[in-house]
Amino acid sequence: MPKPEPDYARKSMVYKLIRPAIFLLNAETAHGLAIAALKRKPAGKRAVAGGKLSVRVAGIDFPNPVGMAAGFDKDGEVPDALLGLGFGFTEVGSITPLPQSGNPKPRLFRLREDRAVINRMGFNNGGAMAAIRRFEARRGTPGVVGINIGANKDSDDRIADYARMAVAVAPFATYLAVNVSSPNTPGLRSLQDEGALSELLDAVIKARGEGGPPVFLKVAPDLEPADIDAIARIAIDRKLGALIVSNTTLARPPLKSKHACETGGLSGAPLRDLAQQRLRDFRSATGGAMPLIGVGGIACADDAWARIRAGASLVQLYSAMVYEGPGIARRITRRLGKLMKRDGFTSIAEAVGTE
Ligand SMILES: Cc1cc2nc3c(=O)[nH]c(=O)nc-3n(C[C@H](O)[C@H](O)[C@H](O)COP(=O)(O)O)c2cc1C
Repeated sequence: MPKPEPDYARKSMVYKLIRPAIFLLNAETAHGLAIAALKRKPAGKRAVAGGKLSVRVAGIDFPNPVGMAAGFDKDGEVPDALLGLGFGFTEVGSITPLPQSGNPKPRLFRLREDRAVINRMGFNNGGAMAAIRRFEARRGTPGVVGINIGANKDSDDRIADYARMAVAVAPFATYLAVNVSSPNTPGLRSLQDEGALSELLDAVIKARGEGGPPVFLKVAPDLEPADIDAIARIAIDRKLGALIVSNTTLARPPLKSKHACETGGLSGAPLRDLAQQRLRDFRSATGGAMPLIGVGGIACADDAWARIRAGASLVQLYSAMVYEGPGIARRITRRLGKLMKRDGFTSIAEAVGTE
């Protein structure tokens, strides 16, 4: 008798069938439906720590190295459903202290021919209070759930916003991700400059408190070599838990889609090589002294494996889920185990940076 199709293969087949209908919808409406569907989804089988794909980063045991990137679950509505799809971890956010509506719609575009996305959402989210109510409701539930924090667009003290967020969400976060790299909040990325970044991280570390979760920093791919060196130095000096490389890009490599000229951050396949190169740059700037999380254009196990070999201890994705559907995490992790074996490694940690 032929072996039954594994769950993730069935999911991909179903997704392939319904994708044309989903793609008829405006991208933000489709995203809303995906969140609604995940809220109703049965729990699903989670990855558990201790297996062959487990990785320990910043004192946290990640059951596998494939995470959902920030921006998919901005308000922390479905972290457990995402873990139930086989992701080893998920990053909620970005969350700002006060609710904000973000930029006018349309602000999210699928570039189908390019397997890419352009977004200028502008940190639309329900704010810290609403998110905290959800975190309270799942308190004690196992699973690696990072919380990505940002500043309100019209705040007159952005550093104070990050500190406020760190105090508010630290009790619920497995790690805190400081996002200073969104291109859609004017001026936000200047917080990556040496002086501002040091001040910001000192404030967040103080606010997070003794014994609080590790602090990760998420950077843009659009950085000059001098910026990379300065960020690497500050990250090591402040003993951050990891650097997340990278957010979306303002660059526009050649694109085929009619939405190519939309303003915003580009993600998905056309970001892959740039994000991979930035990861290498951060690997050499940190000399391997700081764990790195690779994100940008990862769509399959080979992409994830290449990022790990280039220096990533963990990877994240978002755009590829739009094109590949909810079976993507299981598909990648299954094959990642095979690639690890093929190349003669017994753990992910052993393969990191062996390019
Ligand atoms: C619609 C959308 C919204 C996003 N929102 C956030 C966000 O709020 N905070 C953040 O740090 N990154 C955000 N990102 C960036 C992703 O986390 C990720 O860094 C980027 O998309 C590159 O990965 P990908 O090519 O796998 O999508 C967003 C990305 C997309 C496509």
